[in-house]
Amino acid sequence: MKPFSQFFIFLVIVLATSYIDAFTRNDFPEDFLFGAATSAYQWEGAADEDGRTPSVWDTFSHSYDTGNGDVACDGYHQYKEDVKLMADMGLEAFRFSISWTRLIPNGRGPINPKGLLFYKNLIKELRSHGIEPHVTLYHYDLPQSLEDEYGGWINRKIIEDFTAFADVCFREFGDDVKLWTTINEATIFAIASYGEGLTPPGHCSPNKFINCSTGNSSTEPYLAAHNMLLAHASASKLYRLKYKSKQRGSIGLSIFAFGLSPYTNSKDDEIATQRAKDFLFGWMLKPLVFGDYPSEMKRTLGSRLPVFSEEESEQVKGSSDFVGIIHYTTFYVTNRASASNFPIMNQGFFKDMGVYMISTGNSSLFEWEATPWGLEGVLEHLKQSYNNPPIYILENGKPMKHDSMLQDTPRVEYIQGYIGAVLNAIKNGSDTRGYFVWSMIDVYELLSGYTTSFGMYYVNFSDPGRKRSPKLSASWYSGFLNGTIDVSSQDTIQLQRKFSGSSSF
Ligand SMILES: *[C@@H]1O[C@H](CO)[C@@H](O)[C@H](O)[C@H]1NC(C)=O
Ligand SMILES: *[C@@H]1O[C@H](CO)[C@@H](O)[C@H](O)[C@H]1NC(C)=O
Ligand SMILES: *[C@@H]1O[C@H](CO)[C@@H](O)[C@H](O)[C@H]1NC(C)=O
Ligand SMILES: *[C@@H]1O[C@H](CO)[C@@H](O)[C@H](O)[C@H]1NC(C)=O
Ligand SMILES: *[C@@H]1O[C@H](CO)[C@@H](O)[C@H](O)[C@H]1NC(C)=O
Ligand SMILES: *[C@@H]1O[C@H](CO)[C@@H](O)[C@H](O)[C@H]1NC(C)=O
Repeated sequence: MKPFSQFFIFLVIVLATSYIDAFTRNDFPEDFLFGAATSAYQWEGAADEDGRTPSVWDTFSHSYDTGNGDVACDGYHQYKEDVKLMADMGLEAFRFSISWTRLIPNGRGPINPKGLLFYKNLIKELRSHGIEPHVTLYHYDLPQSLEDEYGGWINRKIIEDFTAFADVCFREFGDDVKLWTTINEATIFAIASYGEGLTPPGHCSPNKFINCSTGNSSTEPYLAAHNMLLAHASASKLYRLKYKSKQRGSIGLSIFAFGLSPYTNSKDDEIATQRAKDFLFGWMLKPLVFGDYPSEMKRTLGSRLPVFSEEESEQVKGSSDFVGIIHYTTFYVTNRASASNFPIMNQGFFKDMGVYMISTGNSSLFEWEATPWGLEGVLEHLKQSYNNPPIYILENGKPMKHDSMLQDTPRVEYIQGYIGAVLNAIKNGSDTRGYFVWSMIDVYELLSGYTTSFGMYYVNFSDPGRKRSPKLSASWYSGFLNGTIDVSSQDTIQLQRKFSGSSSF
């Protein structure tokens, strides 16, 4: 990029961020939900207790030396204490996921009574504190038995098993759960798990960066994604037929949504950005909203892209009551042959997408900078291109080195910037209905284990009791939610001063 345009973008960002109008919780609609999130394997621990069996994530994490979720935050035993922390913080909603193998240890068949009781208790605890549960059914943790039996998501048999699992969840928990996400960040799940080998079950074609035991990066991501869409649609159909009229909840699919912005104002980069949007959003949103894949993807992939039958297309179309968005960072997009500045992404999906993505921050997957305008762009794009669907931001947050630094000011600035972006989008007509910070407390992270964390509560993972301590972000969020803090730097500076007095353990 030319120094001049870099400076220009810098200037725009500085001007934009220093011009945030102060806002408060009350500027959002009353029924808008502010919450925070975790997922089962990352929070619960108790991996082989009370009848739970391994998922592909257990297997995956045990094959690397980045730690594992055997104990994690011990949420399985400490859920009451954690719900108390959420209540003290004023959280309006909590997003968590259900461990399939805790509920149905063989993947299909008998229900584990202790697993069932755990989730009933957790949901009851949340409700009794006035916290709305938002449940994700699938968060990277396929029963290992189903992976072994037929290859999991790359086999159509998953549709029936996933639907049966969802049926149990709707029946058992649906009186108290009104918000269901079927699959967590389905797009990046298909890419990273079946193309890049980075996330469980870790499939990829042979390459020089990562040894996968099995896979085909040029076909499996598309196959897995196709089965995810069909499984989601099947669970959604079941919910509408059997439960919705009495339970009155809604059900959606979630995608990972990078902010995407042309690198220059050239026509080429504009076209490249549109192509990236088709691949990264349209791949799942076009079928969900219009019933078929983007024509750009069909042209590029040919027979590698599965085809919807007419009946399937009808079933997928309209099957999401809302779109879940997982959003962390923004990339500039340019029209260059090489797929990415991340070498590992030079096969499969990113190669097919065929554009070059340039980080807005440092070239690290984990050290991203706050670019709230990127999220605003995503919300605006979904409004304009997908008939303004209801949206929940299911994850947004900032990773920092996991150490004992409780004064996480950069995280506070990140979160308040992004909440401001959501407010801007709503004011301009976006139907965004909720925002969840990732994560409620430090958890076992998908890509970085215990080395980086996103939590508003610090967890001492060396302590057998997994002691929790509030970070500045927890105080900030609770002050924002109870209306005593409005988003101006003045309030944040005051909060920091007060906090530093009590920042030691
Ligand atoms: C992946 O599948 C494609 C299409 O079936 C095939 O041409 C290719 O050889 C496969 N690659 C690997 C690594 O198995
Ligand atoms: C993959 O496995 C082979 C054989 O065990 C080993 O020689 C190679 O270094 C491994 N590559 C990576 C990137 O781990
Ligand atoms: C970006 O990298 C530079 C040099 O490594 C470092 O000094 C700076 O703190 C980094 N910025 C962020 C936001 O991580
Ligand atoms: C606001 O919405 C209008 C109408 O959809 C659109 O033309 C405009 O670009 C949007 N503004 C921003 C800042 O996104
Ligand atoms: C974490 O727990 C260990 C073991 O109880 C303790 O030695 C250590 O001081 C704790 N660390 C912090 C930052 O509290
Ligand atoms: C609001 O939250 C802040 C930060 O946690 C807390 O100090 C304050 O007591 C709360 N005020 C009310 C009225 O609940």
